[in-house]
Amino acid sequence: MTTVLPTPAERTATGLRVEKLTARIGARVSGVDLGRELPPDVVADLRTALNEHKALVFDDVHLDDEGQQRFARHFGELTTAHPTVPAVEGAPNVLPVDSERGRSNHWHTDVTFVVNPPQASTLRSIVVPPYGGETLIADAAGAYRDLPDPLRDLADTLWAEHTNDYDYAVPEEDVDDEGAARRAQFTSITFRTAHPVVRVHPLTGERGLFIGGFAQRVVGLSKAESRTILDLLQAYVTRPENVLRWRWSPDQLVLFDNRITQHYAIDNYDDRPRRLHRVTVAGDVPVGIDGRRSHAVTGDASHYTPAG
Ligand code: SIN
Repeated sequence: MTTVLPTPAERTATGLRVEKLTARIGARVSGVDLGRELPPDVVADLRTALNEHKALVFDDVHLDDEGQQRFARHFGELTTAHPTVPAVEGAPNVLPVDSERGRSNHWHTDVTFVVNPPQASTLRSIVVPPYGGETLIADAAGAYRDLPDPLRDLADTLWAEHTNDYDYAVPEEDVDDEGAARRAQFTSITFRTAHPVVRVHPLTGERGLFIGGFAQRVVGLSKAESRTILDLLQAYVTRPENVLRWRWSPDQLVLFDNRITQHYAIDNYDDRPRRLHRVTVAGDVPVGIDGRRSHAVTGDASHYTPAG
């Protein structure tokens, strides 16, 4: 006889059901209608769940672009869709994430090349491929905790420069005309920002590795030395234990904490269409463990995000 134990779920005071998806990251939330204006105590419960689980999944959300923007606004002011990529027509805060316009199959935290990257991101599924197309979301705090003491001591002292202007690890000869045009648009403004490698979460005090794909250089090190150190630290972020692998169904929404996670869209669905819409909540300027704040080196993002 097989025994399937029920998944433990918690009920919050406002009646939300929060069901863990993995030990370290991710929870499914039900018992809330995201299409409505939410009372402050429900928003507070969602924030508490987000602080704890870092990525929250909602089923059958029945939202359109307006509804997704309204939901995201409960957590703070919105950014525009992106610093350089156009929004969905008529929805200035909505970024189309469309397989026909490229695939984010690289680990990153959203828009860390600006001085105050979004604090949270929402992704809503519109077209889901029949197989594959999962989003991986990684717990950067678990990664920091996993570091052996000597590596953690090193990480604590480091700062990294994040930029949107790099080769995305795609060899030049593999970039076709369309890809080159998209890249030119993406880098039409060059941003460079110095962030602490270890960021203190402003709400929880948790420390997390704040790196990802846009982190291209460790301040004070050569490119080659930077790559070695960043790869070493990044390997802790992407450990399977730190990763939620989210297989989309249509009409779902994932809300994740962009201050302490990274994500990766797996390119494993051939040429099937895949479309999500993304809305991001404006963030604060990251702070390191010594209290120093990130600073912009190049690029003005005031058209994209309110000041942090
Ligand atoms: C993103 O990087 O914001 C998109 C993630 C995804 O396509 O799953």
